[in-house]
Amino acid sequence: MSDAEQRRAGSINGPKGLYIETYGCQMNLYDSERMADVLRPLGYAQAATPEEADLVILNTCHIREKATEKVYSEIGRLRLIKEARRAEGRDLSIAVAGCVAQAEGEEIARRAPAVDLVVGPQSLHKLPELIARAARAKGVALTAEFTAEEKFDALPERRADGVSAFLSVQEGCDKFCTFCVVPYTRGAEYSRPAEAVLAEARALAAQGVREITLIGQNVNAYHGGMDLAELIGEVAKIETVARIRYTTSHPLEMSDALIAAHGEEPKLMPQLHLPVQSGSTRILKAMNRKHTADDYLRIIEKLRAARPDIAMSTDIIVGFPGERDAEFEETMALVREVGFASAFSFKYSRRPGTPAASMQGQVGEDAKAERLARLQGVLNAQQRMFNEAQIGRVLPVLVAGRGRRPGQAHGRSPYLQAVHFDCGVGDPGRLTGEIVSVRIEAASQNSLAARAPNEAAA
Ligand code: SAH
Ligand code: SF4
Ligand code: F3S
Repeated sequence: MSDAEQRRAGSINGPKGLYIETYGCQMNLYDSERMADVLRPLGYAQAATPEEADLVILNTCHIREKATEKVYSEIGRLRLIKEARRAEGRDLSIAVAGCVAQAEGEEIARRAPAVDLVVGPQSLHKLPELIARAARAKGVALTAEFTAEEKFDALPERRADGVSAFLSVQEGCDKFCTFCVVPYTRGAEYSRPAEAVLAEARALAAQGVREITLIGQNVNAYHGGMDLAELIGEVAKIETVARIRYTTSHPLEMSDALIAAHGEEPKLMPQLHLPVQSGSTRILKAMNRKHTADDYLRIIEKLRAARPDIAMSTDIIVGFPGERDAEFEETMALVREVGFASAFSFKYSRRPGTPAASMQGQVGEDAKAERLARLQGVLNAQQRMFNEAQIGRVLPVLVAGRGRRPGQAHGRSPYLQAVHFDCGVGDPGRLTGEIVSVRIEAASQNSLAARAPNEAAA
């Protein structure tokens, strides 16, 4: 970038407000942090609201139709702020990043002229250049040619915020499930070299991070010079890192070594998100998931043999093309057999350009809604049961900070449950980053309430 461009990009004009709205999955959460890292040297600091910002970035998700539509309504809201600003002789820049940017870059420019720039997930390191160019000629769009490697090489040092952090180790997807846009929006599978991942892990630890979640669309397909089980072992060697998790996994890549790590590596938490999508082998085949319902159940068996208390969570789609009542009942049966600690479930959403969008046997909206309601009834009950089963147990909680009420701290259990507890006299903030054993006294659908042991004894 030339001096003149840098100046236009804002580095010499003093501090500027940056507001990032994040939609979608863990990959976007990570990318949002990294965009803030890239823009910090240009003078951009976090603004509390879009109204106070000079640049608003919408980091978008394309996974279901609703997610995509949300982007356009949000652009509409920002356009009003931008117009009010212009009337005062100032500007608000609007950037669209993430998977909608990648999938619909040109359409965004056409449908939403208020947008100043469009940047795909693998191009976020080019934001400074794009901002400078957008200041010159509006509407410059740069979406990716899928160079995840280049992206990681170009990013500045990571700035951590809080006791838990995501660490991206793998990007993209080559699985091509027939319902899914991710292989098109995120490109080919790419694993970061283990040395780069470990350097970032150490940098996070040095900034006080105690829990690292290794992330990727298919994180267990990791192959950056070692496999995921080995990588977990290496991260575990960082003394101050107390907890390790990984997400999201594909059943096909659940290797015996990784399963064994759940029994052998004490820092690896007893919790796993393993999407199954359907309990019907026929539907799984049409989804191109490359495994059967029985394969999934065998994996769960092995995981529970390695780590009996492991908390399982999953993703399920209802109403995939060709799903009749009989196939849906197979999903219900699988759910009952596994007993999930938590789950995400969705109505199938037809995504343009994916194979399933043009399949025969599309399921009507009413049937989808009915099946989803029935499924969620069972999943919610399972989640409540799992939470209630913790009552009376003493669990180690990694404290994230002060709770909502005075005297309270909040954090997570090993099973990823939200826990809040009273910690008696003194500022609960003193416990941030510590692992405190607390007795669980009450449970609801979404969280646990506890008491610090010294309080419990009193
Ligand atoms: N890589 C992860 C998940 C990526 S998307 C995996 O393979 O499991 C997150 C979840 O969104 C998926 O697991 C799936 O359940 C859901 N999903 C993806 N495409 C969808 C669609 N077209 N309609 C409904 N749900 C979908
Ligand atoms: Fe999508 Fe399937 Fe890849 Fe997951 S594995 S991101 S569901 S294509
Ligand atoms: Fe959405 Fe892209 Fe993640 S489509 S789910 S933000 S990879």
